[in-house]
Amino acid sequence: MTRRRQVVLVGSGRMGSAFARSMRAAKVSFALVRARSAKWTLPARRGASRTVILAVTDAAIAPTAERLVQSDCLARGDSIVHLAGMRGPAELDAAAAIGAHVGAMHPLVAVASRTSPPLLRGMAATFEGDRAALAAVRAVAARIGLTVHALERVDRARYHAAAALCATGGVALAQAAAVLFARSAAGVTDEDASAYAASLLASVAHNVAHEGAQGALASPLLRGDTTAVERHLDAMAVHDPAAQLYRAALAQVIASLDATGSVERAVLDRAREILAARTSR
Ligand SMILES: NC(=O)c1ccc[n+]([C@@H]2O[C@H](COP(=O)([O-])OP(=O)(O)OC[C@H]3O[C@@H](n4cnc5c(N)ncnc54)[C@H](OP(=O)(O)O)[C@@H]3O)[C@@H](O)[C@H]2O)c1
Repeated sequence: MTRRRQVVLVGSGRMGSAFARSMRAAKVSFALVRARSAKWTLPARRGASRTVILAVTDAAIAPTAERLVQSDCLARGDSIVHLAGMRGPAELDAAAAIGAHVGAMHPLVAVASRTSPPLLRGMAATFEGDRAALAAVRAVAARIGLTVHALERVDRARYHAAAALCATGGVALAQAAAVLFARSAAGVTDEDASAYAASLLASVAHNVAHEGAQGALASPLLRGDTTAVERHLDAMAVHDPAAQLYRAALAQVIASLDATGSVERAVLDRAREILAARTSR
């Protein structure tokens, strides 16, 4: 017989708010514990085991897990996960030592604000840790529409670099594009420029999800139009960080198009020439 489970969310910061909002939207009942509160009160177990989602800052993970153990909020057979991409399950050794199932579940989601967190429905997370903890968090994740991918032997620095490249890089692209949009026509406000960038990034996310990262390109290079690339770089002289981002993106895209063979070699050679000329200026 499957034991009943009680979901406990510890931490009411940005990621905690995303989980709270998503669980409320999906009518998943859970207990919310304010991590820095001096007193923690949890509902009685009534025979249920607990699935604890530790949404606290990275440095607070291990001490908070220890506090959960010492205050008898966590027991053998419970499951506990933290959400840090840079840290593995060993952060939860204090919980593992009493027989709790542990894991690192990293939502591949950027949450910039406590007050307007994104819903986790349709998003992805990765997991490294015990099978039992994986099963426990997947049961919650399935209800809120979050897909959990199990990983093993994670190189945390490389893995998190990839996540940061998408999350921070996406914002950097939006910031640079917003500067250019604002200077591309009369009357474009900061709000307008952000909306234009958000629209493009949302469509890119759709294309990457449906076509795969290597097949999601919609670039003038696919039409053999290297003149457009030159004109872009000329126009970006007004904001050098944008030109630097564009050149870095172009180098990646040329490498990908070369590997997939989807554009004539002469077009890629010309694109490389343009890139080399603009990089050495
Ligand atoms: N934000 C993101 O985009 C993102 C993305 C992926 C993964 N994550 C991971 O999610 C976890 C939470 O990050 P976050 O962005 O939500 O951080 P956050 O907004 O800074 O808030 C985290 C919460 O940690 C608790 N906290 C702070 N200092 C503490 C301390 N000294 N002792 C105990 N608890 C403390 C607080 O909870 P109370 O307010 O309840 O006291 C705070 O609200 C981290 O492991 C992070 O790496 C975040």
